[in-house]
Amino acid sequence: MGNSIIPVETFDCFVFGATGDLAQTKLLPALFHRYADGQIPESARIIGCARTEFDNDGFKAMVNDALKRHLPAEQCEPDKVAGFLNLVSYIEIDIYIDSHWQKLVACHNARDDEHVIIFYLSVGPSLFAPIVKSLRKHHLHKTSRIVLEKPLGFDLPSAHELNKLIRSVFTEKYVYRIDHYLGKETVQNLMSLRFANAMFEPLWNSHFIDHVQITAAESVGLQGRGDYYDRSGAMRDMVQNHLLQLLCLCAMEPPPAFDADSVRDEKLKILRSLQPLKGHEALNSTVRGQYLAGQDSPSYLDDVNKEASATESFLAINATINNWRWAGTPFYLRTGKRLRSNMMEIAFIFKPTPHSIFGDLATPIHPNQLIIRLQPTEGIDFEIMTKEPGHGGMRLRPTVLNTSQIVNDNNNHKQDAYQRLLLDVVRGDQTLFMRSDEVEAAWKWIDPIIAAWEQSGIPPETYDAGTEGPAGAIELMAKGRRRWRRVE
Ligand code: BG6
Repeated sequence: MGNSIIPVETFDCFVFGATGDLAQTKLLPALFHRYADGQIPESARIIGCARTEFDNDGFKAMVNDALKRHLPAEQCEPDKVAGFLNLVSYIEIDIYIDSHWQKLVACHNARDDEHVIIFYLSVGPSLFAPIVKSLRKHHLHKTSRIVLEKPLGFDLPSAHELNKLIRSVFTEKYVYRIDHYLGKETVQNLMSLRFANAMFEPLWNSHFIDHVQITAAESVGLQGRGDYYDRSGAMRDMVQNHLLQLLCLCAMEPPPAFDADSVRDEKLKILRSLQPLKGHEALNSTVRGQYLAGQDSPSYLDDVNKEASATESFLAINATINNWRWAGTPFYLRTGKRLRSNMMEIAFIFKPTPHSIFGDLATPIHPNQLIIRLQPTEGIDFEIMTKEPGHGGMRLRPTVLNTSQIVNDNNNHKQDAYQRLLLDVVRGDQTLFMRSDEVEAAWKWIDPIIAAWEQSGIPPETYDAGTEGPAGAIELMAKGRRRWRRVE
């Protein structure tokens, strides 16, 4: 069965930072896909807003080029691309020059039919405040939706300041804080698995689940983002948002409904139940690493062009959730750059059977594992013990029930997270976006950990590029007599 395509309302989407990397690699291709599938009406407008000197035609040429570079040729049917380019226009704007905003106001006012208005801030965080203030000043904010990309603050005070400013201009129901992990198909399948199947719920607790491993391993380095990354590190870049959001979806209670506030209320409770990690406890429960040069790859220090840096490109954390469901089940988080491969997954490792009736011949009985795979392929695997076929007696072996087909659609392109999230903004559905209190709760948990690292003065452990990270990460698991799943 294919996807049913339900066209969305018409809209104007003003993309600040439209000539930047995110817009070219993700946003414009995502909008193009939804247009090519017939979901975006011909009357919609996508208005690039940036400082680069372009007229409409110059910008259209850039968009055309971005689609060609980032999509396989067979997906760029010429008539679809031409149709999409008809929706696209450009406003050259220096957001600090007041008179430039008049162009935007004129474009905004040129339309008097009923339509959704979106301001997408695909810009560095230092531009959030000036853009938000200008939107207010030019009365563009009233019923418009604003979309913000991370980083949403640098710590709790700065996130709080940003939220305060945004709240003074927009009501929360118009604010869309993107965490693109929430738009991934398999992440949503985690919710359907949990809340549309009765069989998992009785097992979903510390009586049956020994521990959970959430891994986001990347083989790439900093990809030219050295300045940003060295200020952020793996904690701010990946854990504060993506990994903690995944942890929330794994651990939260069933919400009363799949709607924005019900889901976000439950996620917030998890963030607030995380055992605070301070001082020594923070040092004992975390491992930081920094990659060395590989055979063909530069070291972290080369990538950030520094002689020394205390920023982590790898991080492992043993997190504890203090509630009745999860007390006693650690959640291990792990993320890093320049690791052996791209592997993103959530693994639920169940408790061992209490007693084996099969004796030594049968082979050790592996605990069951439920694996939600996000990358390199998406799918859900369930590892169970089965009998080895044949006459050799009662020999057991682990067998994977693989459900990859549930996440593959019949389309010739996979649903990228941004396709779903962008259209959710048009539909006015905030379920897969972060609320301000969630963002602040995540910082509240993270800030003391970063403070403990800084106070200790202990640098991150080094690790070889192309491996699974520093030795300390293995020890972190070994303390609980556990092992990481292999990064492969
Ligand atoms: C981004 C981080 O949010 O997510 C990057 O800033 C990271 O450092 C990226 O590479 C990973 O996203 P994805 O969708 O490729 O898994």
